[in-house]
Amino acid sequence: MAPTYKQWTTELDGVDKLKMGEAPMPGDLQQGEVLVKIRAVSLNYRDIEVVSGDYAHHQSLTQSSSLVPCSDMAGVIVSSKSSRFQEGDRVLSIFNQTHIKGQVKESDMASGLGFPLSGVLAEYRVFDGEGLVKCPDYLSDEEASTLPIAAVTAWMSINTFNPLGQYLDVSASSDTKKPTLLVQGTGGVSVAGLQIARAAGLNTIVTSSSDEKLARATKDLGAGTTVNYRTHWEWQEAVMKATDGAGADIIFETGGAKTLRKSFDCIAFGGLISCIGYLSGKEDGSDEVNRLNINVLALRRNVTLKGMLNGPRERFEEMLDFYAKKGIKPVVSKTFTFDEAKDAFAFVRDGQHFGKVVIKVST
Ligand SMILES: NC(=O)c1ccc[n+]([C@@H]2O[C@H](COP(=O)([O-])OP(=O)(O)OC[C@H]3O[C@@H](n4cnc5c(N)ncnc54)[C@H](OP(=O)(O)O)[C@@H]3O)[C@@H](O)[C@H]2O)c1
Repeated sequence: MAPTYKQWTTELDGVDKLKMGEAPMPGDLQQGEVLVKIRAVSLNYRDIEVVSGDYAHHQSLTQSSSLVPCSDMAGVIVSSKSSRFQEGDRVLSIFNQTHIKGQVKESDMASGLGFPLSGVLAEYRVFDGEGLVKCPDYLSDEEASTLPIAAVTAWMSINTFNPLGQYLDVSASSDTKKPTLLVQGTGGVSVAGLQIARAAGLNTIVTSSSDEKLARATKDLGAGTTVNYRTHWEWQEAVMKATDGAGADIIFETGGAKTLRKSFDCIAFGGLISCIGYLSGKEDGSDEVNRLNINVLALRRNVTLKGMLNGPRERFEEMLDFYAKKGIKPVVSKTFTFDEAKDAFAFVRDGQHFGKVVIKVST
């Protein structure tokens, strides 16, 4: 019988309907391709949306009927026809497989792993060698698998306007007034942002719905100021107070509809709001508090509002150098076995995690 490997597939009809199945081992590789044995996969909020059939805000992408979900993996090359990698090399996937340099193009979105391309929640996958980066030696497979979407998006949300090689790092500066980063929640992007900001010497503010998670952000990761957005709904006031009325220089806008107005009220003059996600909804309310007049809001404090879509391979590699130099260890909240993949999706869907959730595929 021909050799097979195991994989999970989705018909975009819900986490509960994920199916474990088998696929034939790939045949001969094309020039430039590699076969990767996948060891660890990390989950992103996007994966929950894809599997649930809710990932519909990128108009150029159409829903396919069945696919292997997930985009972020760490693995090892088992055979190579790429000049970039050899058998035995540890590697990480990049999210949009064709996004190598510079600004993302609409055409790059067609190469997103785990939608619209089939993804990585499988024991093996063939990649173009161009769509991978070398895995840092000091990180475990589980830790490293968390980096492609969450950490790269966090890196770009801080450094998007800094040229390659000139990333923000004031850790050695004697200037007493350091920039402040505000992250919303304690999910994958926010925790990576907090870790990067701390290593780069920035002041940090974290919001969360959980006092326990905030205590962890302070104790384990050295967060500067923490605010519970559930018990202190006017958290923008706490941000202004913590910054002596100046506001945060960079805000990770992961909340969306119910948080953007607040971000405009606590951004520093000339600051950057990186629009990353929409966990509180995709559409503004029509009431006084949630209705936005973006033109005036952006203008009154000279704000830059920038939509973020992950980042290119060259910035991922830049970030990996920074991580290694600073010894940053990504935060893995919980690791599930390959057989427990459905439980891992449900865990992220229900917001139980702090940082990242990982599925261990193989050793
Ligand atoms: N544009 C991009 O390239 C890109 C890349 C990655 C992610 N994203 C988007 O960014 C968002 C975060 O992604 P993720 O993977 O980090 O998600 P995640 O790990 O699932 O993080 C979710 C966390 O966000 C917090 N949260 C939930 N509802 C919130 C609300 N109404 N206001 C503020 N915070 C809230 C919660 O933190 P607490 O439990 O601490 O309250 C929750 O645990 C998602 O919308 C995702 O689609 C975009």
